This record gives sequence, C-alpha cells and structure tokens, in this order.
Amino acid sequence: MKINLIVFGTRPEAIKMAPLVKVFLADPKFITKVCVTAQHREMLDQVLEFFEITPDYDLNVMKPNQNLYSLTATIIEGMKPVLEEVNPDFVYVHGDTTTSMAVGIAAFYSGAKVCHVEAGLRTFDRKYPFPEEFNRQLTGKIADYHFAPTELSKANLLQENTKKESVIVTGNTVIDALLFGIDKVNSNHFKESEIENLKEILDFNNKIVLVTGHRRENHGQGLLNICSALKTIAENNPEVQIIYPVHLNPNVEKPVHELLTGFANIFLVKPLAYAAFIWLMEKSYLIITDSGGIQEEAPSLGKPVLVTRDTTERPEAVEEGTVLLVGTNTHKIIEETQKLISDSTYYNSMSMLHNPYGDGKATSRIVNYIKEL
Ligand code: UD1
Ligand code: UDP
Repeated sequence: MKINLIVFGTRPEAIKMAPLVKVFLADPKFITKVCVTAQHREMLDQVLEFFEITPDYDLNVMKPNQNLYSLTATIIEGMKPVLEEVNPDFVYVHGDTTTSMAVGIAAFYSGAKVCHVEAGLRTFDRKYPFPEEFNRQLTGKIADYHFAPTELSKANLLQENTKKESVIVTGNTVIDALLFGIDKVNSNHFKESEIENLKEILDFNNKIVLVTGHRRENHGQGLLNICSALKTIAENNPEVQIIYPVHLNPNVEKPVHELLTGFANIFLVKPLAYAAFIWLMEKSYLIITDSGGIQEEAPSLGKPVLVTRDTTERPEAVEEGTVLLVGTNTHKIIEETQKLISDSTYYNSMSMLHNPYGDGKATSRIVNYIKEL
C-alpha cells in the first residue's frame, strides 16, 4: 500500500489541496496522512472547517508578524519527526509558499518522492512575487512529479530542462474546490452566518467592488497607493459599495484600517470564510486584487479582475482579456475601475466566462497518475 503525506500551511494551499485530501482519503489503495504547518492559523482553520478536514499533524508554527528566516527553519525542523513517523512514499506540496519550499526540502531529505501540485507557473523574475517566484522555482527543482495546471506551465518547466515524463498537465485544483464550494453553498441546508451578515451590510442593488491584497512587495507605498485609489473611487461613486476582507498580516491590516475607516461606502471586514467569499465573488461587479487564487477563480465566475501587480505568473486570463494588470499606480487603478463602472460595453468585454485554469477534474488526473506509478 502506498503512503501519502499531504502538507500545506496557508489559506490558498488549503483550499487547493482540499479536493486532493478528500479523494485520497476515500481511496482504499492508499494510506493518506495530512499535516498542516499552520503557517496561517485562523485563515487556515476557516478552510479546514469548510472542507471538514482534520489534520493528523499540526506544526502550529505561526507567530505574529513572522519573518521568512525563522518560518523556513521552523518548518524544516518541524517536518523531521512527522516524516520519520509517517515514512511516506509520496509527499505532496502546493504552489509557492514558504511551507511548499521548506516542506519540499524536508521531504527530499527524507527520501520520499516529492509531488508538486500547481507546478510551473513563472514570472521568471525571482523578486516578483517575493519570495513566491523563488519558492516555486526551488520546489520545481526538488520535485519528482510536477502537476502543471496549464500547457503554458508545462512549457515553462520543459524550458528549464525538467524531465518531460515527470510533468503532467492536470488543470488547477482551485477549480475543483470552487465547483465543490459553490455546490455546497447553494445546497438548501447550508447556513453561513457570514453570508447573512453580508446580506445585512451590503445593498446588492448597487455595484459591489470586492477588494483583497496581501503581497509582500506591495507592503508600504504600494498599499498606500491602492488605498488612496479606493478612497477616490468611493468618493466619486457614492452608489458603488467597496467591500474589503482585510488580510490578517499586520503589514496590511494596520495601514488599511488607518486609511479606509470612516467611509460610508467602504466596508472593511475580517477575512471571510471560503463559503462567504465565493458567494460574495459571484455577487460582485468587479474585483480588485493581488491574489493568485482569485485571478484563477474569477474567470470561472465571469468577473473582471484588476490585478494590483506589474507582473503575473498567471498570464492566461490576461491574454484572454478578463484580467488586467494595473500595478499600484493610484491613477491607473482609478481610471480602469471608473471605466468598468461607467462603460457597459467595456465591462461586457471583460466579464466573459471562461476556464483557462481547469475543468474541475485536476484532482482525479493527479490521483490516477499516482495510481499508475
Ligand atoms: C502567505 C504566503 C503567500 C500567500 C499568502 C496567502 C509566504 C512567504 N507567503 O503570505 O505566498 O500568497 O500567505 O494569504 O509563504 N496572520 C494571522 N493569522 C492568519 C494568517 C496570517 O494573524 O491566519 C498574520 C500573522 O501575523 C503572520 C502574518 O500574518 O505572521 C504573515 O503571515 P505569512 O504566512 O508569513 O505571510 P502572508 O502575507 O500571509
Ligand atoms: N479567500 C477566502 N476569504 C477571503 C479572501 C480570499 O476564502 O477573505 C480565498 C479565495 O477564494 C482564494 C484564496 O482565498 O481561493 C486566495 O488566497 P490569498 O489571496 O490569501 O492567497 P494567494 O492566492 O494570493 O496565494
């Protein structure tokens, strides 16, 4: 019997690994254990609760305002006893976080095969996004198997001389999670207090602009510029409602609350549970974000996205015209948002429904591949 160890630590990894956890746990051909580093705490627990996942191991590493040095070291050290006890054949890591990279290194030391889910996305600039591009490239060097979401991510890996037979195009599990999530949220018996709360604070007859942001390279001036743009957009469009679930990173939370509190049509809320967030995405008019996962989800919901970054490792939707890079230039953010609010032809051209990142079957492609080994 093959032994799997699936490891993740942050909110987006948890969302994108949840479908894989569910399918592997239900398959009697495998013994599957789940370990969370808890690089995130509250934001991870929200996801575990929604997908009803109880980890077998929890490293509980998160510290307030943690730094990359100690986070990396603590995760590598924390993984040693887990790897020794489980003695897995396969260790699954996801994407580009410090958890992915540090667990990848530890898994390599243990002698397990490293499976990289969401492999091959690239900006080819190691500083953007920081440190994620480096984390993903390094994890790609460590991995034995690369589950690439798109043909482009496969091409990126082949360009780096990755062995062709170790790269499998699967689609992104973010779409598997999204389809599962929408189904669950729309089912009759599903109740979520955060959704009820959103119904009370927002007027859905108005245009809703949904905002998120957390990238390290936007901390400081970039975030100040974004907030300044949001202020102007709110003042110029009193009928538009801006809702911003604020990331718990103190480098985000503090300036956003300082700059954006007190506006009648700006609503700052805590990070939303996944159910409430996808419900709100569906109800939104447009999304302003620097998030990777949201760039992937929005096209499946037909929502235009303005990305507050200069580069993206997810160019597929940019090429199709539903995602636009606006950077952190205040004027550009105001100008593009205003155009989407007032020009319906332009809005329609950006709200096309398409699925460049997957068809909801990525998980079964990954599981079938591992079964054949
Ligand atoms: C991390 C990932 C980033 C990913 C993002 C998703 C790295 C280096 N960064 O960035 O790639 O896109 O998660 O959101 O891997 N905090 C809490 N509670 C939580 C989560 C965070 O209080 O549940 C606060 C803590 O003070 C923590 C800080 O946020 O120290 C930063 O967390 P960290 O995971 O280091 O960075 P993120 O900006 O969340
Ligand atoms: N998300 C959520 N609640 C929120 C904001 C985002 O559940 O308040 C979900 C979102 O649907 C997506 C993921 O979190 O699946 C994105 O996480 P984040 O932006 O933190 O990280 P990134 O994708 O940029 O690594």
